[in-house]
Amino acid sequence: MKKVLVTYRDIPGGHILEDLGSRFHLVRNPSPGYMERPRLIEAVKDVHGLVPLLSEPIDAELMDAARSLEIVASYAVGYNNIDIAAATERGILVTNTPGVVTDATADLAWALIMAVARDIVVVDRYVRSGNWTEWRPEAFIASDITGTTLGVVGMGRIGQAVARRAKAFDMEVVYYDEHRLDNSDEESLGVRFVPFAELLTTADFVTVHVPLTPGTFHLVNESTLDLMKPTAYLINTSRGQVIDERALVHALQQRTIAGAGLDVYENEPKLEPGLAALDNVVLVPHLGANSRKTREAMARMTVANITLALEGDIPRNLVNPEALPHRRVA
Ligand code: GLV
Ligand code: GLV
Repeated sequence: MKKVLVTYRDIPGGHILEDLGSRFHLVRNPSPGYMERPRLIEAVKDVHGLVPLLSEPIDAELMDAARSLEIVASYAVGYNNIDIAAATERGILVTNTPGVVTDATADLAWALIMAVARDIVVVDRYVRSGNWTEWRPEAFIASDITGTTLGVVGMGRIGQAVARRAKAFDMEVVYYDEHRLDNSDEESLGVRFVPFAELLTTADFVTVHVPLTPGTFHLVNESTLDLMKPTAYLINTSRGQVIDERALVHALQQRTIAGAGLDVYENEPKLEPGLAALDNVVLVPHLGANSRKTREAMARMTVANITLALEGDIPRNLVNPEALPHRRVA
């Protein structure tokens, strides 16, 4: 019987992952929290399928320890933690969970837009503190959202879902992506393609939805931040390393941009020094896909991917089809 290792015991939707036990020898981390690296390296020795989290590096060293490994079925849409080239070279399939995380992540991007533009965290603290003694019209004047311009960087599934929501706020939506959408898709979404620099100089809200790749590392840096309007906000629900966090903290301190809403960080869970002290940021701990329905859908997708792969079929959410011709089959 093929063996499947789930590295994290308390994955939500865990009862769905239990289904793997009916077909495979299912091994789950018996303890709460992460498996320490040496224990993980030991545990993958004889496994055929591996379900890791986005925070676990799945690299060549680990793959070399896992001589029988046929599939890494990641419980995430982003797979920058997995060395895809190393997997492909070894004939190991890699799958992710696209599509099911789209709405929850787009909703969170919007929560950050609204929270930072309306100072929700700051004023919540103010109300709780007991300092609110009289109603004053000049207190906490906030930024407008309705009727402003949204700049979407990365127009994949999530970027498109964020753009669709902007229609309800009568926003103009401009976008930049390496791959431009078809005219008809641009029209039905009501979005306009612009060069990256133009997006930065015109948008009131810049929201980032690109995957982390060598090409998007520090896509937002000191010089791109310089192009943003001093009244503009930066929102990131993609991956932290897409933004040079040190340059961002500097821009926020100098108020060369108005604020930021962040779900992801360059060195999670560590924050760049100075970030937590700023009151023009809203910070949440990588929760984009963290809705109940989404987490369960991710578990179902992971089970389907691993089952298809280990039964010799092609999993639906295969990231590296290049591995298929020489895939490992026990
Ligand atoms: C979350 O960040 C994911 O990639 O699923
Ligand atoms: C991820 O699902 C994306 O395509 O944005």
